[in-house]
Amino acid sequence: MKIHRLGASLLLLPLLVAGCIHSDSEVSDETVTWYRDVKPILTQRCEGCHTPHGIGPFTLSSYEDAKAHAAAIADSVQSRRMPPWMPSADCQQFSPERRLSQQEIDQVVAWAKNGAPRGNPTDDKPVPPLKVALDNPSATLDWGSPYTPSTVKPDDYHCFLIDPQLQKDQDLVAYEFVPDQRHEVHHALIFSAPMADAQAKDAATPGLGWPCTGSSDVKNAELVATWVPGETFTEFPTGTGIRIAKGKALIAQLHYNTRHGVSPDRSTLKLRYAERPVPNRASILPVANTSFVIGPKQQGATAVASSGPLPVPLKVWGVFPHMHELGRTGIIVAGDRCMIEIPKWQFHWQQMYFYKNDGITVPKGTEVKYTCVWDNPTDRTVRFGEGTEDEMCIAFFYTTLY
Ligand code: HEC
Repeated sequence: MKIHRLGASLLLLPLLVAGCIHSDSEVSDETVTWYRDVKPILTQRCEGCHTPHGIGPFTLSSYEDAKAHAAAIADSVQSRRMPPWMPSADCQQFSPERRLSQQEIDQVVAWAKNGAPRGNPTDDKPVPPLKVALDNPSATLDWGSPYTPSTVKPDDYHCFLIDPQLQKDQDLVAYEFVPDQRHEVHHALIFSAPMADAQAKDAATPGLGWPCTGSSDVKNAELVATWVPGETFTEFPTGTGIRIAKGKALIAQLHYNTRHGVSPDRSTLKLRYAERPVPNRASILPVANTSFVIGPKQQGATAVASSGPLPVPLKVWGVFPHMHELGRTGIIVAGDRCMIEIPKWQFHWQQMYFYKNDGITVPKGTEVKYTCVWDNPTDRTVRFGEGTEDEMCIAFFYTTLY
């Protein structure tokens, strides 16, 4: 397998409000209270999804909410099911990072164990609001009319054609995906693609858009933006951006989960273009293995996607490992350096992860390898493909030339 240059480019720097949980006290059952200790944690780490219209099954906005669910909350954070966060802390640090610190977990658990005390309202500190909107968007786009997700399965993956109507080439420098039905939108991937290819795909399927799974299912599509619940907006580092050429279509791939009801959705995409072309265009580089075979009932089937020796040195700013529903674990290394490790793959929680610091320099000649491990409970032989029933072993890297 080899790395393909995908032309467009970016450096993503999501501007989620980072947690600033105070850590001045030792965790002791008597001292942990809602107002002083637990509320700031839940506000910053849980409310992004557990809001009245969020994807979480219940709200976690008030003391009453939290008290009612105290035991389940303690259990979910102790087992690290919540907040959802796949990468291992032993490999790399990412930003923003949803992982709770051990101290935060201990505080929540101690609070629940001690009967979820409310504490003193005067300890209530204002916490920075989570939702931050993109300033000065150049364009606000959508797919034209509401789409009602299919309920054949609880998960519906659907692609929509969006015409950005560019009069000239533009460099995308920031974006905000605004889900309409927050409780059912589980992720969004935005691609750019030749207009004719996108229109042909759209025309081939009746109704709005088309069903799609692993990607856009359109030839020559390039990933330009990603969104998962809890994210606000993404701004690329100064001087960088993704080129979207005049005449290109945008394709939004949405994952709808209809377990908690189904409502027509018309989500919005806000884009900000650079005023003049950016000096540094980054590239999105995929590394893929498309020739694996997973046997019926095979446990621990493994494939490696390799870049081969890199022909040039690269700076890697972000990484997006991808598999489908049979994935068990994934790890990416550059030479002997760990780039990301996913000890327990969860199909529904995949995303682009950005390194906490300045990105990772990968020297010329280094081999970048993504190892995918699957468990196949079915009687089918599974191969590479776009369908939910098929599998993938592909990782995307957000890079600039070093
Ligand atoms: C990124 C979105 C998101 C964030 C952030 C999040 N949750 Fe959840 N939570 C969900 C969803 C969705 C479910 C429904 C079950 C599922 O799909 O995994 C859920 C289910 C739960 C459940 C019930 C199921 C279980 O696993 O116990 C609890 C309890 C819970 N969340 C607590 C929390 C707490 C506490 C936090 C913060 C520390 C948090 N969640 C942060 C999305 C989120």
